[in-house]
Amino acid sequence: MKRTKIVDIFAPELVGTQVSVKGWVRSRRGNKFVQFVALNDGSTIKNIQIVFDMEKFNEEQLKPITTGASIHVVGQLVESMGKGQTVEVQAESLEVYGTADPDTYPLQKKGHTFEFLREKAHLRPRTNTFGAIFRIRHNMAIAIHQFFHEHGYFYFHTPIITASDCEGAGQMFQVTTKNLYDLKKDENGSIIYDDDFFGKQASLTVSGQLEGELAATALGSIYTFGPTFRAENSNTPRHLAEFWMVEPEVAFADLNDLMDLEEEFIKYCINWALENCNDDLEFLNNMIDKGLIERLKEVVNTEFVRLPYTEGVKILEEAVAAGKKFEFPVYWGCDLASEHERYLVEEHFKKPVIMTDYPKDIKAFYMKLNEDGKTVQGTDVLFPQIGEIIGGSVREENYDKLMTRIEEMNIPMKDMWWYLDTRRFGTVPHAGFGLGFERLLLFVTGMTNIRDVIPFPRTPNNAEF
Ligand code: 4AD
Ligand code: MG
Repeated sequence: MKRTKIVDIFAPELVGTQVSVKGWVRSRRGNKFVQFVALNDGSTIKNIQIVFDMEKFNEEQLKPITTGASIHVVGQLVESMGKGQTVEVQAESLEVYGTADPDTYPLQKKGHTFEFLREKAHLRPRTNTFGAIFRIRHNMAIAIHQFFHEHGYFYFHTPIITASDCEGAGQMFQVTTKNLYDLKKDENGSIIYDDDFFGKQASLTVSGQLEGELAATALGSIYTFGPTFRAENSNTPRHLAEFWMVEPEVAFADLNDLMDLEEEFIKYCINWALENCNDDLEFLNNMIDKGLIERLKEVVNTEFVRLPYTEGVKILEEAVAAGKKFEFPVYWGCDLASEHERYLVEEHFKKPVIMTDYPKDIKAFYMKLNEDGKTVQGTDVLFPQIGEIIGGSVREENYDKLMTRIEEMNIPMKDMWWYLDTRRFGTVPHAGFGLGFERLLLFVTGMTNIRDVIPFPRTPNNAEF
C-alpha cells in the first residue's frame, strides 16, 4: 500500500479511506483502553494522531513506541472527536522500524535549549523548531532560483577552489595536498607551491563575484548561489566560517538599478515565505518570536531608506551629541559597527536602510570610485535585528582606475590577469551584490543565532558532524 505523507493527509477526500503512514513518534499517552501517538514524518510541522484501541493491540506491542521510535501504521483515517486535530488514524496494523531507548535518546519531549540542540545537530532536524527552519530554508532557496529565473538571470556556477581572494581580506582557507610535516621553502622562507596539487597556492572561495563578473559581461544577468568560506575568527551570532551566498551580477546596471534589485529581491523572498511557509512561520511566531509574522509583512510593505554613508554618520554623530552611548566611536571614515547600523535601522528610521557611497578605504578594491575621489558606489542593506544582510556595489569598469585602486591597496594581482581582461575587452558598467543566505534566514525565521539556521554550522573550533 502506498504511503501517504502527513502533509497530504489532511485533504478532505481522504477521510473514510485506509491510509499507510510512516514517521517518528513524537509522544505517546493514554490509558489501558486507548493509546494516542503523535506521529511526525518531517513533511510538515503537523503531527497525525494515531489511535490504538487496546482491544486490538496489547501493551507489549506498544512498548517500543517511545519518543523517537520510527513506525509504520496502516489504518482508517477518520474525523477526530478530540481537540487539537481534525483527523486521526485508527490503527489496524503496526510495524516498528526502529526503537529509540528512552534512557539514551537525547530528544525527549521536554523543551531543550538551542545550545543543547547544537551539540545534537545530527538529531535536531527531528524537533519541531528545526524541522520548521529547514523546511523554510529549502523554500527560500527555491524562492531565490524562482526570482532570478523569472527575471531572466542565468544560474552560473563559480568555482569553490580558487587562487584569488575576492575581498582582498586574506581570510581564506588553504587547499593543499602537500605533506604539512615536510614543507619546502625558498631562501626567503616562503613555502614553495610548485609541486602542490594545483601548482600554486589555492584556497576555498570567499565569494563567487569575480567569476560572476566574467559571466555577467557575457550573459548579461547572472547569479551564483553556493557555499563560501571565511577564515575570520569572529565568534558572533552572525558569522559562520562556511555560509551560503547569493550573488547576482548585472551588466549595464548603475547604482539605482542595483538598489532597486536589492530591494525587490529581498521583498520577493520574504513574501515567498509568507505565502509558502505559513504553518512553519506560525509555529515559529507562537513559540520563538511573537512579532515575527508582523515584522515580515511590514518589511514587504515598506519602502527601504536610501542613505549615503556621509549622512548616516551625521545622524549617528548627532545621536552621540544628544547623549546616545555607543561602544565604538563614530566619525567620517570609520567602518560602522553593528551597533551603529542597528541604531539607524531600529531606532532612527525603524525600517531597512540601504547605505551607499562609503569611504573608499573601508571597502573592497573593485568598487566604483565616485567623482569626489573619496567615496565608492558600494551599498550595504541593513536590516532590523540582523544588521548587514547584503553587501554590493557598482564595479569599477575603467581599467586604469581599477589598477590604481589595486596598487593603492596592495592587492596581489599576479593570478588575476583574467579578471582584468573584462576591463580590457569590451568593458561595460556593471553592478552586483552578495546576500548572506543565513542572514536572510535569521530574519525570516526570527532565530537569533546563525548557527541555528544552517544544518551543520562551521565556526571557530567547531567542525563536528
Ligand atoms: O559584504 P560581503 O563580504 O561582500 C562580498 O563578498 C561581495 N563579493 C559580494 C558581491 O558583491 N557579489 O559579503 C556579502 C554578504 C554580507 O552582506 C553578509 O550577509 C554575508 O555575505 N556574510 C556572511 N554571512 C555569514 N557569515 C559570514 N562570515 C559572512 N560574511 C559575509
Ligand atoms: Mg560586507
